[in-house]
Amino acid sequence: MSYDAIILGAGGAGLLAAATAGQAGARILVVDHASEAGRKILISGGGRCNFTNLGVEARCFLSENPHFVKSALKRYTQWDFLALVEAHGIAWHEKTLGQLFCDGSARQIVDMLLAECRRGGVEIRLSTPIGEIGHADGRFTVGRDTAPNLVIATGGPSIPKMGATGRAYAIAEQFGLKVVTPRPALVPFTLGGEERMFKEISGIACPVVARARGAAFEEAALFTHKGLSGPAILQISSYWSPGETISLTVLADASDHLRAAKRRMPRAHLKAALAERLPNRLAEALTARIGIDAELGALPDKALDAAAETLTRLTFRPTGTEGYAKAEVTAGGIDTAELSSKTMEARKLPGLYAIGEAVDVTGWLGGYNFQWAWSSGVAAGRAI
Ligand code: FDA
Repeated sequence: MSYDAIILGAGGAGLLAAATAGQAGARILVVDHASEAGRKILISGGGRCNFTNLGVEARCFLSENPHFVKSALKRYTQWDFLALVEAHGIAWHEKTLGQLFCDGSARQIVDMLLAECRRGGVEIRLSTPIGEIGHADGRFTVGRDTAPNLVIATGGPSIPKMGATGRAYAIAEQFGLKVVTPRPALVPFTLGGEERMFKEISGIACPVVARARGAAFEEAALFTHKGLSGPAILQISSYWSPGETISLTVLADASDHLRAAKRRMPRAHLKAALAERLPNRLAEALTARIGIDAELGALPDKALDAAAETLTRLTFRPTGTEGYAKAEVTAGGIDTAELSSKTMEARKLPGLYAIGEAVDVTGWLGGYNFQWAWSSGVAAGRAI
């Protein structure tokens, strides 16, 4: 069959691109190997889909070209997506830090996108492997279907057990587009060696400031059996490269607190002072790491300051991450230098587009990745 565009991938980006183009009159086919559309939407945000963020700005996205996202985000904003959500009567709430969730279920977002696709007469073919892709005489061929436009919307390889693949990169390479080396992002860290001692406190969470490569996030960290997780850690993982260290501030005013504790309770040990502000088992693990076992009153202020330094810059050198099996997204991807930031069309090959997570754009945790899927999807959908 002949279409105006074939969209590969029925995730958030592919579906909104399809609906946008379909409603403008284009004949659209969406192909996906999964048995249902929008599977990542369904599991997102603990089943409630954190579908956007009130604070979307270019600085909340990582890419080799940090300016690339600006045009698409400006042309289809978080407010535009929110208006669509409201037009479908979906109740929502702000949870924290500008993160917007459905009151009900993530399925409402998938149903909304499918309804928008129906309005645009979009044909969605599920449980359909993509197979080989051809290109001749200005037309792309996917199986027995052809179109002058092909949109790569197959996402990245994070969570392969949900059907995620790196097919986007193979298609890009087939057509000569460069790919920025993909890596797991928004992913827990693994710890080894001496740092494994923290596995003793697995399950304990505390508010921290996590830092890596000049980026800092103030949210919760969670000590796990394998290493470190929690929102602050997931955020910082996107900035981390193998071999580098990360640091956590677990007690920002540690120096003042310890000096005051020394005056208030000179007979107490460090652990007791820490336990006033931190979970008990964490206080114990940190005391062991600091290695001071004397009454506070017997410690010179210099020793307290050294302990405080550890608490304000608790440094870890992760052995790695928990990989694509646990990564919420994939960083890297199709090089933005190959694409128009206005339309997502490949500069080298008119008619070829790439959108969503397949592209070298990675948002912070908190609804930013879906907003990128929506904005880039609409950019391509309008251009087709
Ligand atoms: P997406 O991966 O959604 O869709 C790609 C589609 O292509 C899929 O339907 C897949 O089946 C199909 N496909 C892949 N390979 C194929 C192949 N070889 N052949 C045929 N079809 C193929 N973000 C956010 O902003 N808020 C949130 O709350 C969350 N929560 C969240 C939770 C969890 C557990 C995960 C794993 C991820 C999130 N995310 C998130 C990230 C968000 O899910 C992600 O950024 C978007 O789904 C990306 O949308 P895309 O449409 O680009 O890819």
